[in-house]
Amino acid sequence: MIFHEVLVVGGGLAGLRAAIEAHDLGSEVAVLSRVHPVRSHSVAAQGGINAALANHPASQDDTPEKHAFDTIKGSDYLADQDAVELLTSEAPTRIFEMEHWGCPFSRLDDGRIAQRPFGGAGYPRTCYAADKTGHALLHTMYEQTLRRGIKVYEEWQVVSLSVADGRCHGVVALDLRTGRLEAIGARAVIFGTGGGGRIYGHSTNNITNTGSGIAIAYMAGVPLKDMEFIQFHPTSLFGNNVLMTEGARGEGGYLRNRLGERFMEKYAPKAMELAPRDITARAIQTEINEGRGFPGGYVHLDLTHLGAAKILERLPAIRDIAINFTGADPITDPIPIQPGQHYFMGGIDTNADGASLVAGFYAAGECACVSVHGANRLGGNSLLETIVFGRLAGRHAGGYVKGQGGEAAGKGAEKALAKTMTETEKRVTWVLEAAGPEDPADLRDELRESMFANVGIFREEKALAVGLDKVRELRARYPKIGIRNRGRKYNLDWARNLELEGQILVAETIAAGALARKESRGSHFRRDYMDRDDASFLRHTVAHLTKDGPRLEYRPVTITKWPPQARTY
Ligand code: FUM
Repeated sequence: MIFHEVLVVGGGLAGLRAAIEAHDLGSEVAVLSRVHPVRSHSVAAQGGINAALANHPASQDDTPEKHAFDTIKGSDYLADQDAVELLTSEAPTRIFEMEHWGCPFSRLDDGRIAQRPFGGAGYPRTCYAADKTGHALLHTMYEQTLRRGIKVYEEWQVVSLSVADGRCHGVVALDLRTGRLEAIGARAVIFGTGGGGRIYGHSTNNITNTGSGIAIAYMAGVPLKDMEFIQFHPTSLFGNNVLMTEGARGEGGYLRNRLGERFMEKYAPKAMELAPRDITARAIQTEINEGRGFPGGYVHLDLTHLGAAKILERLPAIRDIAINFTGADPITDPIPIQPGQHYFMGGIDTNADGASLVAGFYAAGECACVSVHGANRLGGNSLLETIVFGRLAGRHAGGYVKGQGGEAAGKGAEKALAKTMTETEKRVTWVLEAAGPEDPADLRDELRESMFANVGIFREEKALAVGLDKVRELRARYPKIGIRNRGRKYNLDWARNLELEGQILVAETIAAGALARKESRGSHFRRDYMDRDDASFLRHTVAHLTKDGPRLEYRPVTITKWPPQARTY
């Protein structure tokens, strides 16, 4: 059996940062990733990472406290304020660390890190590397991983988490290249497995963002938090929903409807195009729904007034993407855009140390819910979350394995892992041999379509109930799937359909949480309950798996110094 002291699952920013920290504290660490680490979805982040560095001429009096306030207001007061204060106070140190590790940030003339305005932020505080910030950060982080000689298992897919007596003992994973199933023992496991955007249609996410880590934790008995809060990015490319960064609006881009109007003045007269994402996405969708969009359902992101030099220097990647996929050159043509699913604010229930209810099991990054984003994340805060809370998860997991927890972790591990292996083998073999009449691709497509239509930007009781019924129907159909490819080597048909069951379960937590939350808050907008209801719903939703679906509990939000106020921009 393979064994590692600390096993990190996920080769994106959160996972690698956790691995580096645990390694530097003296733990023996390995990373397991379903793709080569630099192909993880962090690489696709474009516009930037927030920290109150006060480098921009317009942000001289910015502070971590102001960053915290913007984040909390942006979250529609659902974020835990102690966790947000930790995030924003750590931000400058973590950015300088990335700088010292060699991250090629864009620079001001005097050499300091450049910052741009982003939505919902009182000051320009988003540090960037043109519009390829995730690429710059992830390659830097991967270099640091290589430098330390941390072992990376590439193209391995975790299938199960081994939990017994409230303690995590490792994972069972599939080596995609051979199709071999392997039990991997670990004293501590850290998930940095990313979000589940591909549970939705019209997503900006990579096809590997299936929510598999969230599902695996949930199926192992770890609760999920605030799953109903799904972010729709205002500007995804019409046609394929590739991200067109918020940085484009940060650099001065306009949103225009079919009549040429800068319609944001109706929805956020002060912030205009730099309102937070929930408000901007709803504004765009309203323009489209009310007939002021273009045929097919899009509006324009207009950068033509910015000039070629600025676009070529600061937004070269989205220019290439727009040209390649639509033929529109942003230097001379407006870009057709529509809102697209972008981010899960909710996820595996953790505290600020990344710790879950299961001893030795940690999570960080988009798969986790600390919670610092509450009901709506501000752009630029997710990259920050990965390096702040990835590090803390690594730190605490490292401490756990060296302390009492680590000694206790060994007990019963072999037995627990052997049991998980036997159960997993059964499930995995069943999928490989599945010969039922249902095409799993249909189930996946129906799930995505229904989630976008019924549990999307605008929500109401009837549609949510339809969405929940659809998820339950798909759950009942899953045991009747049949798969076409029965080889074991690099069989993605097998690998994807193994995780489909978990995707359906995760979708159920989203729909059930949304149906139960009878208010509007951040990204969760109910046409039948248009107002925020702090008296009843200033609380986190926590979902526990039962055989009848999720059992929902509620937990108070931590307020430190910012009592909820009306949220206007
Ligand atoms: O628009 C963007 O560049 C996305 C940034 C983010 O999601 O934080």
